[in-house]
Amino acid sequence: MNLDSLFSLRGLTAVVTGGSSGIGRAIALAMAAAGASVVIVARDATRIERVVAEISAVGGRAAGVVGDLSTRDGIREAGDAAAEPFGEPDILVNSAGINLRPPFDEIDMDVWDATMSVNLEAPFLLSRRFAPAMLERGFGRLIHISSQQAHRAFVTSGVYGVSKGGLESLTRSQAEAWSARGVTANTLVPGFVLTPLNARLQEDTEKVRQLAERTMVGRNGLPEDFGGIAVFLAGRSSGYITGQSLFVDGGLSVH
Ligand SMILES: NC(=O)c1ccc[n+]([C@@H]2O[C@H](COP(=O)([O-])OP(=O)(O)OC[C@H]3O[C@@H](n4cnc5c(N)ncnc54)[C@H](OP(=O)(O)O)[C@@H]3O)[C@@H](O)[C@H]2O)c1
Repeated sequence: MNLDSLFSLRGLTAVVTGGSSGIGRAIALAMAAAGASVVIVARDATRIERVVAEISAVGGRAAGVVGDLSTRDGIREAGDAAAEPFGEPDILVNSAGINLRPPFDEIDMDVWDATMSVNLEAPFLLSRRFAPAMLERGFGRLIHISSQQAHRAFVTSGVYGVSKGGLESLTRSQAEAWSARGVTANTLVPGFVLTPLNARLQEDTEKVRQLAERTMVGRNGLPEDFGGIAVFLAGRSSGYITGQSLFVDGGLSVH
């Protein structure tokens, strides 16, 4: 046996929403390094192009799709466009996410709709878009990114926590429906990761220090912490892992 048969993604295609920044970018880079052809979906073309260029510069295969996952039409268009560069994907990573954080009493329906669309409906609808071809081939990997807020209220959970709780339930429903036909679904659960998503929160250095202290590893998360686990979950050797929420949080959730 060689390691390639366990962990290589050569010959596989991955669609990574939110692959232009933070955790999604790190996953896109890692999957490309493992041999996958990677399609990045996000709104800002410049940031997408930067990551596509990074991957291409080291001999990887990548393409970008400019799409907005905050509406059902946008999700449908992005899903169709994402299958164009390299064909129907074998791997879907739903990393695009927003956390608008208004105080709970000030949440309006615009905040609810946008959060639910990007964080929950897009993973649901994109999975539904790509699963039929995966099921036909007998191989597929759905990887979602949720949050500590799926499990407990934490730094203004609001609607964000609701969407992430739904996402973990979606993972289990998908796993129940599709695992026996080769399509697994799992969720990665980050702790506090230093990315643009929580740039505003990072301005409070005391809070950032306190969050690091709550982990067991002794630091906050970095996007790079998600590359290896995502490659593993995307590959052939993870076929008996499904419906799981895997905490990648330095021990925060069990401290
Ligand atoms: N950072 C943390 O501490 C943390 C903790 C728990 C969970 N998470 C989750 O991890 C995932 C990645 O977060 P991150 O920290 O890496 O955030 P990030 O650096 O802000 O990246 C978010 C990505 O989502 C894309 N995106 C946002 N809205 C979009 C839309 N309407 N349509 C298409 N793409 C959209 C962004 O690109 P554009 O803006 O160009 O569209 C960007 O590529 C999210 O699901 C987040 O909820 C993060």
